[in-house]
Amino acid sequence: MIDPLTVVDHPLVQHKLTLMRDQNTPSAEFRRLLREISQLLAYEVTRELAMTTRRIETPIETINAPVLAGKKLALISILRAGNGLLDGILELVPGARVGFVGLYRDEETLEPVQYYFKVPEHLDDRMVIAVDPMLATGNSSVAAIDLLKKAGATNIRFLCLLAAPEGIKRMQEAHPDVPIVTASVDEKLNDHGYIVPGLGDAGDRMFGTK
Ligand code: URA
Repeated sequence: MIDPLTVVDHPLVQHKLTLMRDQNTPSAEFRRLLREISQLLAYEVTRELAMTTRRIETPIETINAPVLAGKKLALISILRAGNGLLDGILELVPGARVGFVGLYRDEETLEPVQYYFKVPEHLDDRMVIAVDPMLATGNSSVAAIDLLKKAGATNIRFLCLLAAPEGIKRMQEAHPDVPIVTASVDEKLNDHGYIVPGLGDAGDRMFGTK
């Protein structure tokens, strides 16, 4: 069983994360590092993919060799920063089905509002991995998981690059059945909802916006 919270403290992940945190790292380099880290995190988050065996002939003998079983996994990008994690994981699992959840924050109610939702069919039969680099307040992540459960998903994992303790608490209270995999649990959120020390706005760093 995967732990409710996995922090991937592998030296390569931590080294690349430090480069990403550095405000002098340009967008192109930031995107490349995010793609590389996403593959190392994906290795952990996919540990429990169902397996079966296939009979194959090696040049030496015939064996029953392990292969992935069941329906293809579903990767769900929480827009827009989720797309930075998506590309790397898709290189590793090219057969994965892909969905997108778009949410914005209503300035009056401060509640997340859905503006886009497109996910693969048969979510109930797939491992579903929701990806968003930053688990900050947890509001949009919780709302995205709510939507995925409404669409039928029962076997969900959440993959992020950085998590704040506040976001982890919020997610684990709302969705205790959804394991979280991250590269770091940072110190806290600041008054503007940014992760401290964090890396700033992941979407802006990725796409060169402000
Ligand atoms: N989203 C970001 O991109 N960065 C944060 O620090 C918090 C939320």
